[in-house]
This record gives sequence, structure tokens and C-alpha cells, in this order.
Amino acid sequence: MATIGIFDSGSGGLSVYREIVKVLPQERYVYFADNGHCPYGGKTAAYIQDRARAVTEILLSLGADLIVVACNTATAAAIATLRAEYPAVAFIGMEPAVKPAALGTESGVIGVLATAGTLKGSKYLTTKGRFEEDVTIVEHVGQGFVELVENGILDGPEAEATVRASLQPLLDAGADRIVLGCTHYPFLRPVIERIAGPGVEVIDPAPAVARQTLHMLEERGIPTGQGPFSVDLYFSGQPEALQRIYRLL
Ligand code: DGL
Repeated sequence: MATIGIFDSGSGGLSVYREIVKVLPQERYVYFADNGHCPYGGKTAAYIQDRARAVTEILLSLGADLIVVACNTATAAAIATLRAEYPAVAFIGMEPAVKPAALGTESGVIGVLATAGTLKGSKYLTTKGRFEEDVTIVEHVGQGFVELVENGILDGPEAEATVRASLQPLLDAGADRIVLGCTHYPFLRPVIERIAGPGVEVIDPAPAVARQTLHMLEERGIPTGQGPFSVDLYFSGQPEALQRIYRLL
């Protein structure tokens, strides 16, 4: 049985956890929601690196064999630092799924929803640069999306108005693929899909990250699949949002 450590600025990483559990149902999970410091989206890279380091220490002390940085913003700001500082630890990060969107689009326009931190990250900018010759990439910060999810508001008029304000510009630009570049956003997917309508495909990279997690455990020779399954949720702020989202899963 492997111990899989997962962290995010809050409950968003549970959207990645849910996909990993489908692929690896017999492992021990330790999830850390850094919700006392959420949102990460507008914070400096140095601040996020400090938090990522502190959370990594906690997850390692809890026995994590591998750490999934289930946060696009933390991946952009801190995964290179983590890999340099903990060379023996396997880290898996998130990246907006620009490639499948670019390969699948029929309108030639793809929309990316993410935090400000992710959109200015060098990894994202490099990926974007690779595909920008062939497709038009339009972006928008999911303004207020993280707060909605942390407050457990996943549907209804407030969620609808907040999502529409950031999504409509991408739809108006002709996007037929919407990339969810923040792990909180999949919890708003029903609202996003309803506003986007049937001609638009919403893309979440979490299933690919789950397959990569399995692959990395195998590659490192860490035994899996023997159980028993367990999950412990840790947090640096209040537990309510995390518990609410966890119950949804
Ligand atoms: N869920 C995170 C992400 O993927 C962070 C959101 C935030 O804290 O701003 O980007």
C-alpha cells in the first residue's frame, strides 16, 4: 500500500483526489488543505513556495511516498523549488490541459480559466507559446470561483452570476473548449457547462494526473493495490468547507 500525499490551498485538490482514488482505490491518502492561507491565486511566488515547503514537511512526516501538488497555482510557483529541495521525493503537479483542447477544437479558439498566478507561470506560458501558432488562446481569471467553492456555493444564482462574468468573454471570443486551469473549478463544472451550452467541451486534467500518479508509483517500485483504503484530511484553517466538499464526493 502506498501513502499518497495531496495538497492544495483548500478544498479544490479534492477534485484531483477523487480521480486518483478511481485509479488507486486501495491506498492510504493524506490530504492537506492549506485553507488558512487560501486563496493562493494572487499571492507572490515566494509566499507560495514557503507554504508548499511547510506543507511538504507535514505530508512527509505523515509518511507520504509521493506528493501530488493538486493546485495549479502552487505547481506554477513552487514545484521546481520543491523538486530541487527534496530530490528524493516524487512530486506530481497540475498544468492547464491546453494540448487536448488545442487538438480537439473545431472553432480554433480555446478558453483557459485559471488563477492569475497560473496564467503568468513560465510552464503555462511555454505551453501556450507552443500551441498559439495553430489556435487562438483566450484566458480569464475565474474571478471569485475559489471563494464560491470554499464557501460551499456550488450552484444557484450567485454561482451562476460569478461564473458567467468570467466565462462569457471566452464564449464571446468563440471558444469551443474550456480548460479548467484551477482545481477548485471542477466543483463548478455543472454551472460552467450549463452556461457554455452543448457545443462547448469542458476539460479537466485531473484524470490524466491520476494516471500519472499510478505510473510514477509503479516506476518507483512503490507497491500499490493491497489496501486497506484510508483517507485523513488535514487543514490549516477551518474544517467546514473541506468537510462539505468531501461529503459531496
Ligand atoms: N486550487 C488552486 C489552483 O489550482 C488554487 C486556487 C487559489 O488558492 O487561488 O490554482
